[in-house]
Amino acid sequence: MRHLLSSRDLDLDTAVRVLDVAEDMAEVATREVKKLPTLRGRTVVNLFFEDSTRTRISFEAAAKRLSADVINFSAKGSSVSKGESLKDTAQTLEAMGADAVVIRHSASGAPRVLADAGWIDAAVVNAGDGTHEHPTQALLDAFTIRKRLHGAASRGRDLDGVRVVIVGDILHSRVARSNAWLLTTLGAEVTFVAPPTLLPYGVRGWPVRVQHDLDAAIAEVPDAIMMLRIQAERMRAAYFPNAREYSRLWGLDDARLARLGADTMVLHPGPMNRGLEISAAAADSPRSTVREQVANGVSIRMAVLYLVLAGTETA
Ligand code: CP
Repeated sequence: MRHLLSSRDLDLDTAVRVLDVAEDMAEVATREVKKLPTLRGRTVVNLFFEDSTRTRISFEAAAKRLSADVINFSAKGSSVSKGESLKDTAQTLEAMGADAVVIRHSASGAPRVLADAGWIDAAVVNAGDGTHEHPTQALLDAFTIRKRLHGAASRGRDLDGVRVVIVGDILHSRVARSNAWLLTTLGAEVTFVAPPTLLPYGVRGWPVRVQHDLDAAIAEVPDAIMMLRIQAERMRAAYFPNAREYSRLWGLDDARLARLGADTMVLHPGPMNRGLEISAAAADSPRSTVREQVANGVSIRMAVLYLVLAGTETA
């Protein structure tokens, strides 16, 4: 794997391979086993033009547990404020020895530009670009679902027939996009549930079912329900009814939590708006995979860094 830019680029074999390599990394990711020397002498740059807690820190932890050196770049406080371009910023960091650049950017397509423009030779990993994609989030979500369903027997499995409902602010969600592509590639059946104003134009052409009634979706007893963050920072008033109305119609509140199927798991990519898209009881319940998702994110990011920097045998 030369770069990881989009879930859409992953075929079934490659997607399962990433999940399986993450299984192999899990003992190191969770520090049951000491770090691996695999990426000693390599440098990973975290190039973050948008804020992040989980993604940036887990890429840093992942790189360090593979013995890579890590440089963290945040646009805040950098020469970006003086007008320095993405090209000049990336070339400056590559001149300091970057072998891989993990980029988060507000512009959809920025990682693809960085990979394709020929400005740098480093591997490029998309850590979230605008409203476009967040492929490592989708990989860690798929890994989490597979692990909850199959435990120690997960290796080699896809998600054939697994039913996943993704709820909320689909319009602004790069997580929803990446999951739509990845989960369906893995064989899952994906349903989007959202108010009509929070669905993107063209969603009917995606490989997902679309509905607006969360209670009807819950009554179908999905294997997993993924609640999305309301992205207030990207919201315009016209899209959003109001917090109380939204929560009543599309929030996973305590009453809906009680009606979930016995084995339905609850995912949220974080950060959560407790009391808006998800109640505190739902977020903290045994069904919730929120902390597992965070822990699994280190395994997945170890796998991705390994595959782009050392795993030359895969596409
Ligand atoms: N899920 C996610 O991308 O979280 P951060 O914004 O904290 O990285």
